[in-house]
Parts: sequence; C-alpha cells; structure tokens
Amino acid sequence: MCGILGYAGSSDILSVLVSGLERLSYRGYDSSGIAIISDDELCHWKSEGKTHLLVERHLKNLRIENFSVGIAHTRWATHGAPNDLNAHPQLSMNRKTAIVHNGIVENFAEIKSKLQLSTTFHSETDTEVIVQLIEHFASKEEFSFREALCLALKQIEGNCSFTVITEHDPKVIYAVKKGQPLIIGLGKNENFIASDMNAILPYTKRYLNIQDGEIAMVRQDGYEIIDFDGKPVAKKSHVPSEISGTLEQANKGSYKHYMLKEIDEQPEVLARLLHAYAGDGKQLDFMPALNSKNLNLAKLERFIIYACGTSWHAGLVAKYWIEEYVHVPAEVDISSEYRYRKGVSRRQDGVLALSQSGETADTLAGVQLSKEQGAAKVISFINRENSAMEKHSDGVIRSLAGMEIGVASTKNYLAQLLSLYLFTLHMARLKKTMSAKELARRLDELAVLPSLVRKFLLNKAAIQKIAKKYSSYKGFFFIGRGLSFPTALEGALKLKEIAYLYAVGYPAGELKHGPIALVDEKMPVVTIMPESDTYNKMMNNLEEVKARKGKIIAIATEGDERALAAADDCIFVPRVRSYLSPLVTVLPLQLLAYYTADILGRDVDQPKNLAKSVTVE
Ligand code: AGP
Repeated sequence: MCGILGYAGSSDILSVLVSGLERLSYRGYDSSGIAIISDDELCHWKSEGKTHLLVERHLKNLRIENFSVGIAHTRWATHGAPNDLNAHPQLSMNRKTAIVHNGIVENFAEIKSKLQLSTTFHSETDTEVIVQLIEHFASKEEFSFREALCLALKQIEGNCSFTVITEHDPKVIYAVKKGQPLIIGLGKNENFIASDMNAILPYTKRYLNIQDGEIAMVRQDGYEIIDFDGKPVAKKSHVPSEISGTLEQANKGSYKHYMLKEIDEQPEVLARLLHAYAGDGKQLDFMPALNSKNLNLAKLERFIIYACGTSWHAGLVAKYWIEEYVHVPAEVDISSEYRYRKGVSRRQDGVLALSQSGETADTLAGVQLSKEQGAAKVISFINRENSAMEKHSDGVIRSLAGMEIGVASTKNYLAQLLSLYLFTLHMARLKKTMSAKELARRLDELAVLPSLVRKFLLNKAAIQKIAKKYSSYKGFFFIGRGLSFPTALEGALKLKEIAYLYAVGYPAGELKHGPIALVDEKMPVVTIMPESDTYNKMMNNLEEVKARKGKIIAIATEGDERALAAADDCIFVPRVRSYLSPLVTVLPLQLLAYYTADILGRDVDQPKNLAKSVTVE
C-alpha cells in the first residue's frame, strides 16, 4: 500500500527520492509523486501510473539546487481514482505545505464540509483534508507550524500516518505516526523518514521507530520527537536499532520476475526453518523465545487462528494439523470477519495471527482485540522484522522466508506451513498427545523436504506447457479434500491475483451441491489429489467432472497411474506422507499461475489493484 519517504540531506535529492520510490514499488501502487523545498519554496511533481512515468513526464531533465528537504510517495488509491489530481503530495490551498499520507481519515467528510466554507479542494482524497486543516491553523499568526499540526491532529480520526514539509519551516520534515508504520533512518549528515526500511537501505541501516501518538521533526543534522500535545518525548525512550537485511535480498538477479525467484528460493527457506526451529530434524527446540516468555502453552485449550488471503489458507491447513495432533479445537477466521463478528476469546485460548508483513490492518486489529478480550496468549507468525503486529504479540515465530517482493505470496506461504507444522509438533509434545518416538520420526522425515522441493522445481517446463495450453480459458475450478482444500483455495487465489482469470477453490465434496452446474468443456478443473484417505473420493469427483466434459488438470503423487490415465493433464508432485502434502501440492499451482500470468503479459510482481501490505481496512 502507500509508501512514504522523506529526505533531509545534501546528496542529489531527486535521485535519493526516485530510487527510494522504486524500492517502495513492490508494495503495489497506482501513482507517485515528490515534493521538495528548494530556495525555501515548495515545488512538487506527480503522475498517475508507475514511477517511470513520473520521471519521464516531469523529472527527466530537472536539476534541483539549494534544497533542504523532500518527501515522496507511492499511492494505492482508497479515496478517489488513481489519477494525477489524487496522487500525493497533496498541497494546501496556498501551496505552502505538502503532505504524503498512508491510511484513512475516517472523519474526512465532516472536516471537509467545515473547511469548504473557506477553502477550495482540488482532489477527492481524504489526504487533502489533513493538509488543508493544518494550513488552516498555520496561516494564523498566533500559531507556529508545530502548534498548527498538533491542533489539526486533535480533529483527525483514523489510522493515518503522514509526512509534511512546509515553507513555514523549510528545513524540517514533520512525520506523524498514527497507526501506519514510520521510521527515522539515521545516516551520516543526512536523515530519512520511511514507511519501510527497504526505501533507505542503500543509505543507512540505522533506524528508529516512531511510536503511535508521536511527531518526529527531522532535519539534516538531527531530529526531535514530540507527542500530539507538542511535549518533547525523552530521547532515551528511543534507542536506534540496526537492520540485518541486505540489498541483495531485494535483487531479481537473472530472473524475469521476483515471483519466480521466490518460488525457486523455497527449498532454501525450508532448510533455513528446519535448521532454526528443529535442529535440522534432530531436536524440537522451538524458538527459545517462545519458551523463555513463559507462555504456558501446555495450558491452552483452544486455538483461534486468523489471517487474510494466502496467510488465511495457511491457517486452514494448520487447523487440520492442530486438531488431529494436539487434540484441541482450532477455529480459523478471516481477520476482517473476526474483528467484527464479536467472537469470544478467553483465558484458555491461544491466538495465532498469521501475516507475512506483520502490517495487515485487519490482522493487527484482531491481535489487539484478542488481547483486550483476554486471550491467554497471542503468537504471531510473521516474516518481516520490526512490524506493528510483533510489538503487540506475546510471542513471535519468524517465517525466515527473507524479503518477499512479489505481491503474490509464495515462499512465505511455504514457510508459514512448515512453521505451523513444527508448532503443531511442539504443542503435541507439550500436551503429550504424540509419543517421543513418533515425534522424532516426524522430525527426521522432514530433513528430505528441501531436496524434494528443489528437485521438483528443476522441471518447470511441463507446467509451463500446461499453462500455455489453458491460458485462453476464462474460468477455472480448483478442488480438493481435507488438507488439499486450502491448497485449492490458494491455487485459485494465485491465478486470480496475477493472471486476472476467474478461479474458484472448492471442497471437492461440495461440487455437486451447486457449482457443478458451471462445469463444461470450457471450464478446466484442477483436482488436487495426492495419496490420502480421501483419494478414491477425489477420483469420483474427477469422474463427475469428466462426465460433464470438464477438462481435468490433476495434481497427483508421482507414479499415480490412475490419475495420469483419467486426467487431461497430470502434474506429479514428490511422494510425501499425506499430512505433509500441502507443502508440495501448492508448488505446481504457484507455477501454473505464474506461467499463465506471464503468457498473458500480466504485471506478475505488481498485479493491478493489489498491494503487498494491506495497511488499511
Ligand atoms: C497473497 O498472494 C496475497 N497477495 C494476499 O492475499 C496476502 O496473503 C494477504 O494480503 C495477507 O498479507 P499478510 O500475510 O502480509 O498479512
């Protein structure tokens, strides 16, 4: 979603801001813009579309002299269409102050209608309301800019972090944190503001988190932090940290797309997780952090799992594992449903919040809600470091997937699955629902998983061919039973989000309760049917589809002659125990979506309308 960057320093400001915008672009966006104070005057440029359009239309031959500070933004439209007018920065009516913003002003209509008596608005955004309100106070002589900002903040409701520069105070970037993440990047004789460390990694790894309810005032030579009442916040409460990531992680190398690179990184991610959390299969030391926090996991009597999108699918798989091996009920909710359905979490409940980014607004709200409701413990499964969700959780299990740039989540999904499986085993040990011998056997068998996945990924050509064969079809069904049902949902989501094709996942047993009406020769059906207790049932479903002339793409265990004979096309996955099948059956579905999207010429890494971190509701 929206990305924010600010720069106070003397390096070439345009190239710092433009390259930062490019590094923020993975979040997904539809327009971008820049504002700079030069010779104490505010100037700005913005454009709908990708950053290269901003550069081509406005910045190509521009040289900026005598600058002090600048801000930049990638916008993911919420209020108002993605066009030049609604792109950020938004300016005050007198063009003295500019803002870039991430989040939503809940009461913007109310504020706007009051301001409209004296102010002309130019955009449909809620963002413009903030800057007009600040300027409404700042242009009165009795208020300094800082006071004006604090007065405006008293009226603004909603989760919205933003950054402002102004001719009233031309050497300062004002950064307001109210929900959405913002950090100060600390460089040598230069400082930054960013919504995401990635934007500033080439310049510095030292950063400071701005906390909710704080305003950071950042200059080239330092910074100051105040609260929303304008009172200074003691510096000792902000200790700079250093990020461990490197730029290399965000490099496509020789790959055409990040998504394909990330799919190929999966064996390495699995190996890293096994090494970190399962002593390479020899011991189950599940993150000392979890044990040391006195989480009392053995006392938990129920799990509530919530997440969005792909992370939700990982949660659905975990439900099967937890109920079967830990013998406690597990409920799985979509975060945006959980937070409003007035569910109940109690002292005996463990909450598992799943999120690649750790920033997803609905999942974060769920974490906060469960704590308020008195859930025993909230354990988050997060990939990114230093996220808001992490701060609100009692325990964190890191997915260790490395930076995931492609909007379509792939390697993090596999990492979530393996982490959740290991967590299940850990719980089974604590609850004594699995014998030590069985536990040891299960850990031992995981050791081959990375090499099985690696081997599978060496043979992509056959899947590419199948993708080509079916790329002209307009709709797809994905069906599976048991552990393969969430995989069906995940396969359908991947195809929808990057290939823009209609695809729906169903539990195979439900097909005849309605959806089969849609099956004909124009509707390919992907049947996820690894060896399992329900294999024969899946075979029956396959036959039902065939009887209606539906084309079958079967995902089956290697050597499955029946599936090979019955399906129009069959992709074999490595043979693993049925309870581990979600870790292999999803691989061909990721590739099927990838190749279909590529063949159709889609923007694979940044599909239209989507954002990597969904930081607004
Ligand atoms: C995955 O391919 C999607 N882009 C999306 O569904 C994603 O999984 C969802 O937005 C949740 O994100 P999170 O894991 O960062 O919370």
